[in-house]
Amino acid sequence: MTPVTEAPSAVKLTERINRIEPSSTMAVVAEADKLRQQRIDVVDFGAGEPHFATPQHIKDAAIAAIQANFTKYTAVGGTPELRDAIAQRHAADFDSDYRREETIASVGGKHALFNAIQVLVDHGDEVILPAPYWVSFKDIVRYAGGNCVLLNTDEAQGFRVTAEMIERLVTPRTKLIILNSPSNPSGAVMSPEDMAEVVKLAAQRGIWVISDECYVYLSFTGKRFSVGSLREYRDRMVIVGSLSKTYAMTGWRLGFALAPAPVVSAMQKLQSQSTSNPTSIVQKAAVAALKGPQQCVEDMRREYVRLRDHVVSGLRSIPGVKCTMPEGAFYAYPNVSAFFGRGGVQSASDLAGKLLREGHVATVPGEGFGTRDHIRVSYATSVAELDRGLERMRKFLEAL
Ligand SMILES: Cc1ncc(COP(=O)(O)O)c(C=O)c1O
Repeated sequence: MTPVTEAPSAVKLTERINRIEPSSTMAVVAEADKLRQQRIDVVDFGAGEPHFATPQHIKDAAIAAIQANFTKYTAVGGTPELRDAIAQRHAADFDSDYRREETIASVGGKHALFNAIQVLVDHGDEVILPAPYWVSFKDIVRYAGGNCVLLNTDEAQGFRVTAEMIERLVTPRTKLIILNSPSNPSGAVMSPEDMAEVVKLAAQRGIWVISDECYVYLSFTGKRFSVGSLREYRDRMVIVGSLSKTYAMTGWRLGFALAPAPVVSAMQKLQSQSTSNPTSIVQKAAVAALKGPQQCVEDMRREYVRLRDHVVSGLRSIPGVKCTMPEGAFYAYPNVSAFFGRGGVQSASDLAGKLLREGHVATVPGEGFGTRDHIRVSYATSVAELDRGLERMRKFLEAL
């Protein structure tokens, strides 16, 4: 037997893996789980996933796929049936015009995003990223060797992102702009006009846009909008979508991208050397989701509006908490800076940590999303659970 010569702590890992950090949202889930294992009752406002069950007709399609032995490898980027269903759903809902060769199915929206960034961003390239941003954008860009140039938005302006703000950050090294509307974590929704201006600016400057539209069906503005409708700019655009939030399918892992064929082809090449196809059974479920009745999507969206109103009014009623009105997704992003300096709390991380350990409510501190004054509250849960958590937060914050 070969003797073990090195302690695990001396393991030399690659420079590129040391460039990134584990997702801060996952860290909260892990810490809350630890408390639960000690039989502590934790109210969970940390998780970024719908509380709804996957609709029955989608589950039935997966069961039927197993029974029919649809359990072999498929084409790497998804079956033709699924890729067509993705393109058709998008065309019907957003007036886009993508062909099969311009679609790829991946193992979740995160995977589609990861692949897109790996094929577009090179060492030293700059990527403009509006803050607050979803945690993974920054690390995925870093893993590709790119540098994020953060665009700090103003809470008083509803975290608005405009083309003028972006233009100030453009340099000859700018390769990509990442948009995410509705936004995780702020729930902010960009107006179609602002999105169109950004996409136009990017096209004029030869810069790519990745539009992460994983929450596009959870918009409360009365208008849902995809940059896919701006067909004249499609040459520089990658749209990332996901079934995770739209159909309450986070665990199934099915996302997609819509992009020019050469980009899709490069993403497929990368996928062919990593995961290969998304799970065959899940692909059948995804076809059922995309082609089946869409009422479930609207029902869930309406419920999120009700929960949003409930949680925001609850948060605003706690003295010291300020909260913008989110217009989409299922997160509130209250400003808790009024509590810094009280009870040993100096930062959002301190506050979220203490709130979890002492108040037994899990939230995610804003630092991971690029802002210092906020915590993210996921309201994808029942009204009763929201009330329990809000009451605990009120008591905890009043006693600080
Ligand atoms: C903004 C954003 N994009 C992409 C994803 C990825 O979702 P999934 O990989 O489950 O499709 C998430 C998940 O939280 C998200 O918040």
